Amino acid sequence: MRILFTGGSGKAGKHAIAHLVAQGHRVLNLDLVPLDAEGVDNRIADITDAGQVYDVMSSYAGFDELDTGAGVPKFDAVVHFAAVPRILLTSDNECFRVNTLGTYNVIDAAVKFGVRKIVFASSETTYGICFAHGERKPDYLPVDEDHPTVPEDSYAMSKVANEVTARSFQRRSGFDIYGLRINNVIEPHEYAENFPAYIEDPSLRRRNVFAYIDARDLGQMVDRCLAVDGLGYQVFNVANNTHSVALTTSELVDRFFADVPIRSELAEDRSVYSNAKAKALLGFAPRHDWLP
Ligand SMILES: NC(=O)c1ccc[n+]([C@@H]2O[C@H](COP(=O)([O-])OP(=O)(O)OC[C@H]3O[C@@H](n4cnc5c(N)ncnc54)[C@H](O)[C@@H]3O)[C@@H](O)[C@H]2O)c1
Repeated sequence: MRILFTGGSGKAGKHAIAHLVAQGHRVLNLDLVPLDAEGVDNRIADITDAGQVYDVMSSYAGFDELDTGAGVPKFDAVVHFAAVPRILLTSDNECFRVNTLGTYNVIDAAVKFGVRKIVFASSETTYGICFAHGERKPDYLPVDEDHPTVPEDSYAMSKVANEVTARSFQRRSGFDIYGLRINNVIEPHEYAENFPAYIEDPSLRRRNVFAYIDARDLGQMVDRCLAVDGLGYQVFNVANNTHSVALTTSELVDRFFADVPIRSELAEDRSVYSNAKAKALLGFAPRHDWLP
């Protein structure tokens, strides 16, 4: 597929792009800064500027495409990751502005140019636990895609707003638009760096509902979204099978979630941030589960 990927120079995007390129896709990266990766062309553009987004969406992906003389090919898919990726980086309102306006521009341009597959990065933070003031627990376990999304912070608010935007564009177009409620992204080198502290003190992972997503498995998830057509508007939790702490599920629930209702059976070694929907509808099969 010929794919326009936004935000591909960032932590998550660079791994997702590497996976997509390895599967044989052609990727053009739209970002404020270039990604130095073999086989990937870059276009420096700002997603909050609709003109720039429209231009890149309708432009050559590289010099080689000039040679056919057949004009600019259409993108087969847009993967939209560009964002201010959390609170406490910019002002709250700037985070909300960039994320909501940028997402509107990217999906609007994709739909108007007839790109029938759009995958966008939402977030686990939509469930309102990650950036809550004080401690907020899930309404029930496991946390699946039906769990209420009523966050308190501007970043997660922007992601909830983006899901609403995406759902409306799907209704207008009938195209496939899939949102990824990505859990905390872990790059391969971060296991050695971060997990010893998580083993020592599992409470460090409370705000992530003790889950994580390996950056390479996130790449697989994006590829599965590109491969499976016809689902209309969907949101998917994106996480690995296992917890990011060295506790069994019952130890974890007893210690942190004793008063939280259990809606469906929890397996001993399975994350309480459910990835069941992605497995069932997309055939997602994470391969890089961390185990203590
Ligand atoms: N990292 C995580 O744990 C995590 C978890 C859940 C969701 N997400 C989401 O996944 C996506 C990628 O996150 P990340 O961790 O790779 O973040 P990142 O900050 O490392 O990467 C984001 C990229 O977007 C680009 N960008 C920012 N503003 C832009 C603009 N106005 N125009 C064009 N490009 C712009 C940045 O230059 C950067 O390369 C984001 O949408 C984020 O909200 C990340």
